[in-house]
Amino acid sequence: MILVSGGAGFIGSNFVLDWIAAGGGPVLNLDKLTYAGNLENLRSLQGDARHVFVQGDIGDQKLVGELLARHQPRAVVNFAAESHVDRSIHAPGTFIETNVVGTFRLLEEVRAYWSGLEGAAKQDFRFLHVSTDEVYGSLSAADPAFTEQNKYEPNSPYSASKAASDHLVRAYHHTYGLPVLTTNCSNNYGPYHFPEKLIPLMIVNALAGKPLPVYGDGQQIRDWLYVGDHCSAIRRVLQAGRVGEVYNVGGWNEKPNIEIVQTICGLLDQLQPRADGASYAGQITYVKDRPGHDRRYAIDARKIERELGWKPQETFDTGIRKTVQWYLAHGDWVQRVQSGAYREWIATQYAQAA
Ligand code: NAD
Ligand code: TYD
Repeated sequence: MILVSGGAGFIGSNFVLDWIAAGGGPVLNLDKLTYAGNLENLRSLQGDARHVFVQGDIGDQKLVGELLARHQPRAVVNFAAESHVDRSIHAPGTFIETNVVGTFRLLEEVRAYWSGLEGAAKQDFRFLHVSTDEVYGSLSAADPAFTEQNKYEPNSPYSASKAASDHLVRAYHHTYGLPVLTTNCSNNYGPYHFPEKLIPLMIVNALAGKPLPVYGDGQQIRDWLYVGDHCSAIRRVLQAGRVGEVYNVGGWNEKPNIEIVQTICGLLDQLQPRADGASYAGQITYVKDRPGHDRRYAIDARKIERELGWKPQETFDTGIRKTVQWYLAHGDWVQRVQSGAYREWIATQYAQAA
């Protein structure tokens, strides 16, 4: 069995589904079910003994200690986090609580558990920490892409909290010998992506006839990776990554935000044209920029390609088409995640950005 934390969120639920489909074995899924956690993502595993769900906090040491002792996982994959930059600007406290203190408490329990293992169980155990390219800060147009050697220069409360967690993971390896692996991945997109993030928000707003809010000049660049490719990278690192190492994961798909939004509009124009025949692009609205907005992220993924033979399967064109099609087919999922709490967030964020 492996323990996956945050396995009811966007990437975590994709990972759990892929892991079980690939015959990876049973998963113990520990998730607090914050606004971003959604058990509906895992509905296809209902009644399946290979998925054990526990609602709880990675910072609850008593619970984590008990779960480790009872289930004896051979690995822990830590997805649990607060993950939305804009929310971290409005209310950084929960980011420190979960991403920094929560990761620390999880590490403490994992260290105690691992210390008590013996022989092959101890030798083979892994703690894989899922992190982000945002810890490296912002690039200018001419800078080379982030390698694992880049300095940490986080600029938002979100990226600073992830950077802190990465440092703790590193320190637990160097100080205590805990067999850790860290992945720093670029922006993901795909099914089950909560519609507060750029790509799902644009799809959902377009279909609802709402404005498509582009921050600033829309020329900020992100490097996009289809979520299934991120999951395969994590599986590969868990299987063959060198203990204590960091692996950057990315899709070689740098695109300015405005191009992403235009691509989504073009796909929707084809797949579900507006009743009036106009393009969804007419709904694009430029709004006030995000404070401290990082201009460009880009991942140099050559280390994981060279050492572990990993490569993404999807191009941006194939991945974004699949994603738009998924949202078109899952209007019921979107409707259900648009809870009261979500509507409140949208009202606060876009009232200020307008
Ligand atoms: P998400 O916000 O969709 O999901 C986070 C999950 O963690 C939710 O299910 C939530 O309920 C759970 N959670 C939050 N606090 C918790 C706590 N204290 N204890 C237990 N569970 C808790 O996030 P995501 O986009 O799936 O990201 C997953 C991980 O991948 C994060 O660590 C994030 O930093 C990292 N990451 C994300 C991206 C991206 O583009 N989304 C890119 C690179 C890395
Ligand atoms: P986001 O999906 O929040 O990911 P991150 O900030 O972690 O990269 O945003 C992706 C890019 O899209 C980022 O440059 C901010 C921008 N953006 C908008 O222009 N409008 C929006 O409504 C949102 C949510 C994001």
